[in-house]
Amino acid sequence: MSNHDLAIVILAAGKGTRLKSSLAKVLHRAGGRTLIEHVVHACAPLGARETIVVVGHQAEQVAPVVEPLGAETVLQQPQHGTGHAMQVARRAVGRAKFAIVLPGDAPLVRTETLKALIAAHRAGNASATILTSVLADPSGYGRILRKSETAVAAIIEESQLTDEQRELNEINSAIYCFTLEKLWPALAHVKPNNKHRELYLTDTIAAMTGRGETVLAEVAADSREILGCNTRADLAEVDRIFRERKRAALMDAGVTIQLPETVLIDPEVIAGEDTLIEPGVQLLGKTKIGARCTIRSGSVLSDALLGDDVTVEPHCVVAQSRLDDSVIIGPFARLRPDNHLKEGARIGNFVELKKSTIGEGTKAMHLTYLGDTKIGAKSNIGAGTITCNYDGFHKFPTSIGNKVFIGSDSALVAPVRIGDGAYVAAGSTITDNVPADALAIARGRQANKPGWASKKRRELAAAEKPKKAKRPRRKSKPRRSAKRRR
Ligand code: UD1
Ligand code: MG
Repeated sequence: MSNHDLAIVILAAGKGTRLKSSLAKVLHRAGGRTLIEHVVHACAPLGARETIVVVGHQAEQVAPVVEPLGAETVLQQPQHGTGHAMQVARRAVGRAKFAIVLPGDAPLVRTETLKALIAAHRAGNASATILTSVLADPSGYGRILRKSETAVAAIIEESQLTDEQRELNEINSAIYCFTLEKLWPALAHVKPNNKHRELYLTDTIAAMTGRGETVLAEVAADSREILGCNTRADLAEVDRIFRERKRAALMDAGVTIQLPETVLIDPEVIAGEDTLIEPGVQLLGKTKIGARCTIRSGSVLSDALLGDDVTVEPHCVVAQSRLDDSVIIGPFARLRPDNHLKEGARIGNFVELKKSTIGEGTKAMHLTYLGDTKIGAKSNIGAGTITCNYDGFHKFPTSIGNKVFIGSDSALVAPVRIGDGAYVAAGSTITDNVPADALAIARGRQANKPGWASKKRRELAAAEKPKKAKRPRRKSKPRRSAKRRR
């Protein structure tokens, strides 16, 4: 869509007092992103000539969030209301003919809705077109006062409603399309006639209609899209709606989600056809999952890359790791960042990996820590194996070849290399490299002492006997004397 005559202005300078937070309102998160990021994302496909974000409260935190998304920021300091915010944005808006103005705290608005708003504005040759909604409970919002079926007379803020106007249930979403050569003169006439002594952008509507300009209202198809986040309860509701939208999109793409309302998926997550997601799963960040995978209950994947046919058994935690086709992990596996598990590798219960490569078909099934380790194909890492990769100052690598067998409860003290086809005997503490095809044993040699145990038992039984002989019990005199003392 080409909108070379259009500017986007997002108003995000306010504090958000009703959230009771030290964080600026637009930086609160819902649906896996900050509120302001959602708004910028929704506007991006409009192809406007510029996107301007008016910042003020915590400007230094808001700017680095929106600028990488291609937005320009202008500073409103102090904040004298939404009308004042538009005045501050005026220079940045430059030569644009139209502007879409949105609040930074209404993140559910969809691109399609904004396109429809622009189309209605252009078709109606209007000075302003307001995105509105009809609500059963309009409290908290500015109300639309219509002068006819199609035309608007004014927006009345909640604090300025007459008793009669309080019944109006069409509300202002605070999303508008303006023809700028009509907006600027109207804004110049607005006065801060309200108890906060602010300049309200909403007052420009009556200023325009007073001069005979056309103001239209476009009713949003889905009233949930205009939900503003003024309270924590609003944030929770908005988060719920985003999560629902994302799950629905994945299900449309052929993913099965069981008990969908228990599953949390971030906006950029992708999953392939016939993948199954069990209850209580979280898929976060830029996680990408292939086809026919199974992600079982309680697993949390962030920035994970999964090939096809991967199984994540229950209660696994995976961060920034790549799992190739047919890998199986868990239950209860923990993959810290930077692992690469190659095709058919298996990682079992209570196994922790960090910065490690696990070769094709290699298995580490039980109670193991592998850090800074490279393992070739078809090796077996026994239960309880630990790579000792840290000496208290530095980290060191461990290299294990193809078809290696590491016996259970081995400690591999890095830096160390185990050659192809080598064996490490169970319980070894390996401090030197092991050549290919060798057996390394590094533990105390076993000594058996014949008959030692039965002899010990006999000695213990003999020592016990005298204790068992009954001694005559003393009479209970001391107890009586104790009573008397009381
Ligand atoms: C506003 C509208 C109201 C509408 C409602 C929809 C006004 C006067 N009222 O009320 O009609 O029904 O949104 O949610 O516009 N902001 C600035 N600078 C300022 C003041 C505010 O940038 O000086 C920004 C805020 O950060 C926010 C947006 O403008 O993102 C709207 O401000 P907010 O205080 O939330 O207005 P509402 O009371 O919700
Ligand atoms: Mg608001």
